Amino acid sequence: MNYQRYIIFFLHYYTIFMDKIVLKFMRDGPIMVVKNGKVLMVLCRCGASMNKPYCNGKHLDIKFEADEGEIEI
Ligand code: FES
Repeated sequence: MNYQRYIIFFLHYYTIFMDKIVLKFMRDGPIMVVKNGKVLMVLCRCGASMNKPYCNGKHLDIKFEADEGEIEI
């Protein structure tokens, strides 16, 4: 999913001048982009969203499975 790589690339350079951003990989779900405890956006990780790059809940319909995790960029 190339669009997610572009978004992460953008966020990486965004953080050079701004506050740190945390990417929270939700179990069996999307990626939450969090800055200072506030959710900036929720990105699709399953590839089934009809509103890419954002999650629209479709991961529940397709029973998407993925581990949870968190990284700070
Ligand atoms: S993660 Fe793809 S629709 Fe929610």
